[in-house]
Amino acid sequence: METKKVLLTGGLGYIGSHIVVSLSDPSSAIIADDCSNCDLKQIDRLKQVIPFEKNQVIVCDVADLEAFEEIFKKHKIETIIHLAGYKAVGESVKQPLAYYTNNLNATLNVLKMCNKYDVKHLIFSSSATVYGPQSSPMDESMTLLKTTNPYAETKAISERMIEDYCLVHPEFSATSLRYFNPVGAHPSGFIGEIPSGIPNNLLPYVQQVASGKRPYLNVFGKDYETKDGTAIRDYIHVMDLADAHVCILNNPKQGYRVYNVGTGVGTSVLDLVKAFEKATGVKIPTEVTHRRAGDLQESVANASKINKELGWKSRYSIEDICKDAWNFEKHQSN
Ligand code: UD1
Repeated sequence: METKKVLLTGGLGYIGSHIVVSLSDPSSAIIADDCSNCDLKQIDRLKQVIPFEKNQVIVCDVADLEAFEEIFKKHKIETIIHLAGYKAVGESVKQPLAYYTNNLNATLNVLKMCNKYDVKHLIFSSSATVYGPQSSPMDESMTLLKTTNPYAETKAISERMIEDYCLVHPEFSATSLRYFNPVGAHPSGFIGEIPSGIPNNLLPYVQQVASGKRPYLNVFGKDYETKDGTAIRDYIHVMDLADAHVCILNNPKQGYRVYNVGTGVGTSVLDLVKAFEKATGVKIPTEVTHRRAGDLQESVANASKINKELGWKSRYSIEDICKDAWNFEKHQSN
């Protein structure tokens, strides 16, 4: 009988890859990914960091139940880390049905397989966006407000689906991790975020300005009620985020749990630009433009629950984040 496996749906992507390299036994990982937002070259990048075999990756669409079920027929899956899903907020507003179909079917299929193949443990990749527009710091006891886009809604509904499943499977262990803003890269420089096309997110855009791919950063709004007028976020190093998954993996507990994964520290757009310049010595030209539709003024975690209950705490500073992001960008350009 083969050893018990951890299945990562969407595991070849940005966050999944960093979780795989953080596992104490990366050979226990099976990745299911349809490569819609990554490519199989990611396997070679993983191999630069950990011992990893090509046959640990199964190219498959998690929303396709028949194809997805094949994995469970071949492997004894003990834990699923469910990351697969479309994730572009703007696109979700334009294509709501594609987002609801893909993201909700994927979660539904994950739960169906947990039920049929007696999977013991689930960790779900949720997002702080489920809180909706409310004031920071946000904590897990807050009532979720109406979300502002279909992407966020698929995360909120998925959380609810998992919670309802737990109610009738009291022996099951499930955790939704509400990510704040994952950024940065593995310190080796081999794996990191590879945006397709023009980056939507701040730090990947800054990286491309630094490498000369783009002339300057558009600062989306300088008229917020914050110390410097720019919006505030809780940027968390992707290695800290990966570590939170490992922490949950090592501390399974029956029932349903929700944790914020953030640093609890708010950083403005201009703070981040300054931190990047300080950490890398590269100047980032900026131009202030109008606010981006749908952006919150502030999104910062109260991260005390995961800290108190599991002892997890972020370790990387904003300068570490910028240094690692730049290191990765330089590796990519070479
Ligand atoms: C975005 C997603 C969110 C996701 C999160 C994960 C959107 C609208 N939201 O959140 O669902 O969970 O990433 O990391 O895509 N900014 C600029 N110039 C830029 C890019 C961004 O000034 O070129 C500003 C934004 O206005 C915002 C901040 O930087 O105030 C962070 O933006 P971003 O990195 O896109 O993250 P979020 O919008 O917080």
